[in-house]
Amino acid sequence: MTEQDFIPKPYRTKLESGTVTWESPSNIALVKYWGKKEHQIPANPSISFTLNNCKTTTTLTFSKKENTQQFSFEVFLDGEKKEEFKPKIETFFKRIESYLPFLTDYHFKIETSNTFPHSSGIASSASGMSALALCLMSVEKELSAIQDDSEESQKYFNQKASFLARLGSGSACRSIEGDLIVWGDSTTVEGSTDLFGVKYPYQVHDNFKDYQDTILLVDKGEKQVSSTVGHNLMHKHPYAENRFKQAHENLEKLKPILKSGDLDAFIAIIESEALTLHAMMMTSMPYFILMKPNTLKIINKIWRFRQDTGLHICFTLDAGANVHVLYPKKESKVILDFIKNELVAYCQNGQFICDQVGFGAKLLSS
Ligand code: DP6
Repeated sequence: MTEQDFIPKPYRTKLESGTVTWESPSNIALVKYWGKKEHQIPANPSISFTLNNCKTTTTLTFSKKENTQQFSFEVFLDGEKKEEFKPKIETFFKRIESYLPFLTDYHFKIETSNTFPHSSGIASSASGMSALALCLMSVEKELSAIQDDSEESQKYFNQKASFLARLGSGSACRSIEGDLIVWGDSTTVEGSTDLFGVKYPYQVHDNFKDYQDTILLVDKGEKQVSSTVGHNLMHKHPYAENRFKQAHENLEKLKPILKSGDLDAFIAIIESEALTLHAMMMTSMPYFILMKPNTLKIINKIWRFRQDTGLHICFTLDAGANVHVLYPKKESKVILDFIKNELVAYCQNGQFICDQVGFGAKLLSS
């Protein structure tokens, strides 16, 4: 598929107004997306678990307007107007306008809320941008008078929603469906593309079916480095080319691991990916350390506990200090006790979120 496939045919109906609500989850990358080219094209393929509990609910209300030259919208978070969210959405609208030509025809009210605590250091861009992309896709579906719910038309709906979400925030394209999503051209995964996320198409062992992710909120402050700045640091980065190559290799290595259920091999790749992501930030110019002392304390405690018990607990990190503790469901009783007794003390205000692998976004009303 190409970008051209997402330019719609002339719409068949006229709509004065309407409202639609979607909820969409966050996701956690196993092989990380870090570095991008123009038009939100990733420098390497990534794979993620879709999450279940960390999600954004967005209601989009639209009404026809007179002036069709400019975008017109307002944004609310938990009922409060958020002027500071507007530039990001304005950029998003500009990027997707040619794929959704109705955008200038309506005034939009975007009302959003997150299940995770506000400014928890958890990025809401993946769940937020995917929820908004899905709402816009529902408007387009009505305008196109598409009635059929065939597999084919649902597939196109999800692909275009992911394609649009990507133009809002790269990782958002991995939040439309579940449970394992690949984004980025890779010879290892058939059907993978830079344009949108696809479901991982191969056999996955039961060990990974209901994987747990307990998110330890180590530092809830504002992000030190925005993801846009972070990705840009990979341009002219001395280790960039090797890192991109490594991501391809790690995805390839994961394939037999996901099939066989080899948890030790899984852990080695996942933790190495997390530390490599941070190593990239530490070795860019300018350089950043995004881990906090408590991030390291948690990592060391996890390693010690794993050595002592033989249980399959591991960690991954995003571009921040919070730690995602990953483990198989069948080991969750002992591991959750360990987390509560030994790790929560390192969280800001003792805050953590229990999540697990999920299956993607849901239409709540239209
Ligand atoms: C470290 O998707 O937030 O979480 O495309 O600039 O919006 P933009 O970046 P974003 O980057 C996320 C990077 C990451 C790794 C990952 O999720 O793969």
